[in-house]
Amino acid sequence: MTGSGLSKYSKGAIAFHWIIALLVITNIGLAELTEDLTKAERGPYMDLHKSFGICVLFLTLARLGWRWTHPRPSLPSALASWEKAISKLVHFLFYLLLIGLPLGGWLWMSTYGDKAAVSMFGLFNMPVLPVVGNEALGDMVHEGHEVGGKVMLGLVIVHILAALKHQFIDKMPFIRRMWP
Ligand code: HEM
Repeated sequence: MTGSGLSKYSKGAIAFHWIIALLVITNIGLAELTEDLTKAERGPYMDLHKSFGICVLFLTLARLGWRWTHPRPSLPSALASWEKAISKLVHFLFYLLLIGLPLGGWLWMSTYGDKAAVSMFGLFNMPVLPVVGNEALGDMVHEGHEVGGKVMLGLVIVHILAALKHQFIDKMPFIRRMWP
């Protein structure tokens, strides 16, 4: 329980939430803010982007496992039913993108074979998925990654604005449920 009588997320859920949020925001920043650099200049930033992205994929799978075994607190009863419906939709889309974006990126790089193998912080390479040479799939996941990245940015903004609205306009401190 929080001080205001709202039930809180478990410590594990809170840790997953903030670590993944930080990695996703950093990743969007790395991709968008380096767009105008030359390919060579952009390389190290995109290498980090790929490593962080793969971390997000596995952290999200672990987070889903956690969610399965640690039921989350129910949505505050003060929310209108349309707010509950939107909140559920946004959360579902987040999970879809948290898995789809990095998995798509990994598939995309795998279509180029060993020469584009994803290096994890220079420590080891991720396995190349069995889609080498599949240009049609490569084009599809490339396109999907760009659109999905924009949708993710939109969702992050909506999610933050909703939290701020509840906190400062509705004076309902739901943010405490997820506060470390
Ligand atoms: C949480 C995970 C990820 C997020 C949120 C994310 C997000 C993004 C965004 C927003 C862009 C810019 C798209 C655009 O506007 O053109 C981008 C580009 C890119 N991403 Fe990711 N990404 C993730 C994971 C990955 C992974 C795991 C890989 C590869 C293994 C990857 C490879 C790339 C590449 C190569 C580009 C450059 C696209 C281009 O400029 O042609 N991403 N990503």
